[in-house]
Amino acid sequence: MKAALLLASVAVACVAALPHPDAIPMRARQGSVYKDSVMALQWNAANSGWQRNMTVNYFEQLIDHSNPALGTFQQRWWGDFSAFTNQSEYAMLYINGEAEAHGSPDGYPAVYGRNISAAMFGLEHRYYGESMPAPLTNRSMLNYLTVENALADLEAFRLYLQGTVLKKEVKWFICGGSYSGALSAWSKATYPTSYLAAWSSSGVVNARFDYYAFDGHIVSVLPAVCEKAIRSVFDQFSAAYDDPTQRAAMMAIFGTPAYFTKEDMAWMLADGSAMAVQYGSKNYLCDSIVPLSKTNPFEQYSTIIKALWGESFTSSCYYSTECLSNAQYSDQWAAAGYAWVYQCCSQLAYWQSGYPNSLRLDVITTDYYINQCRSAFGQNTFPDTYTFNAKFGGATPNATNVIALQGSDDPWQTAGVQAPLGPNYPEVLAQCNGCGHCGDLMSPLPTDPASLTAQREAIVNYLDLWLGRQQQQQVQLPKSKRNKFF
Ligand SMILES: *[C@@H]1O[C@H](CO)[C@@H](O)[C@H](O)[C@H]1NC(C)=O
Ligand SMILES: *[C@@H]1O[C@H](CO)[C@@H](O)[C@H](O)[C@H]1NC(C)=O
Ligand SMILES: *[C@@H]1O[C@H](CO)[C@@H](O)[C@H](O)[C@H]1NC(C)=O
Ligand SMILES: *[C@@H]1O[C@H](CO)[C@@H](O)[C@H](O)[C@H]1NC(C)=O
Ligand SMILES: *[C@@H]1O[C@H](CO)[C@@H](O)[C@H](O)[C@H]1NC(C)=O
Repeated sequence: MKAALLLASVAVACVAALPHPDAIPMRARQGSVYKDSVMALQWNAANSGWQRNMTVNYFEQLIDHSNPALGTFQQRWWGDFSAFTNQSEYAMLYINGEAEAHGSPDGYPAVYGRNISAAMFGLEHRYYGESMPAPLTNRSMLNYLTVENALADLEAFRLYLQGTVLKKEVKWFICGGSYSGALSAWSKATYPTSYLAAWSSSGVVNARFDYYAFDGHIVSVLPAVCEKAIRSVFDQFSAAYDDPTQRAAMMAIFGTPAYFTKEDMAWMLADGSAMAVQYGSKNYLCDSIVPLSKTNPFEQYSTIIKALWGESFTSSCYYSTECLSNAQYSDQWAAAGYAWVYQCCSQLAYWQSGYPNSLRLDVITTDYYINQCRSAFGQNTFPDTYTFNAKFGGATPNATNVIALQGSDDPWQTAGVQAPLGPNYPEVLAQCNGCGHCGDLMSPLPTDPASLTAQREAIVNYLDLWLGRQQQQQVQLPKSKRNKFF
């Protein structure tokens, strides 16, 4: 009864495909998208009589893998042995990134893992949640927050699990979504013999400096009338911000603090609708913004983005240079974390900049982001994405037995693998109105579009193949025009 009620309420709010809650950033976790996703996961778990393991463990991890003399910190992890027996041959390492972690893996990775009797592990990413080499307020310690250290963390942890926890050789696969989807592919490339397979959900492997393709994709999937209404809100915002008689009243409607600059606020407003497209809420966004109110478009837009991402979204420190730079504000925010801002500032960028016909004001430039980073983290902070991509392969990671999953609405796919890189690096697209970021990681729901279900079947087929559970000829390869290798 309770489960049926839960599903009914999920289905009412339902969008074409819900994201896995792990893939939603901390700043957007107070609104309906996150709540619906968590509810759907719980409904699914209740239906299958299984719960993720919330009992925390700690692993003593090196602060810097290239300088062990710096000592260690405690990194949180969770294990699920519910399906693992002394006959079991498999183990899954699930990557948490960009946010604090809460327990052992759940969603579709856990469905598959249980089905093959795998031991399943989740490690909290360094500098998120409670896995802190030093308090975030100690900015000098942020030097050790690097992709290289995160990859070495995963490998050191895997070796510990195999030698000390499982005490036997098992066949490993690795899994993650978004930035963690990139870490999954990079792990397979960096430690090719450690894992038989990598599941890379919406993996943003290509660190893009001036990331114009992001808005390009959004514009290409939004109905023109919807795009026009959003652009009108931004233009009216620009005029109101520039008019001293209107600015304060306009910012009060949004609940945005006066220390937000025009660029900060434009970035927050643009992200509010971009994330709606990214997470499968495109229809909700467009139905709510069209027709645009002639009398109070700010109230209308504010109501939409607060409903999706939470009341505090429009005042989020994440978007404000002053907030990020002023310890009085940012240190209050340490729990939710500015670690991700630092990762973008120091290595990954993914800087969504405005340009003519983008879906954000053109005051948002790479210079804006660079200055924000310098102000927050020091003059030498700069993401050398060219060197980074030369090292990790950019859009073509040097790895095999990786499956790249994408959603057709998701703007982040333009920082990922968008075509098969060979027979052992397929790319499978879920194509539907509302197929967004990391949809495959979510546990299956009765409301799922067919192409998302087909995408999950493809994951099982490839992983079964690479883990040695199935012969090549039995594998049903997905038919998609994107899969030109097959
Ligand atoms: C949950 O985690 C604890 C601590 O690692 C472990 O002892 C226990 O066996 C786990 N339970 C299940 C069902 O995996
Ligand atoms: C595996 O576990 C079962 C049941 O717990 C036990 O009877 C059997 O002896 C174990 N086998 C090995 C090889 O340890
Ligand atoms: C679970 O395993 C069974 C038997 O191997 C298989 O038929 C089924 O497709 C699997 N389901 C998933 C979700 O992996
Ligand atoms: C930052 O952390 C390092 C290493 O733990 C420590 O030596 C240093 O004193 C800390 N600095 C501040 C300002 O807390
Ligand atoms: C790609 O990876 C393979 C296997 O790890 C390695 O032998 C090869 O040198 C790599 N190629 C490049 C261009 O880095």
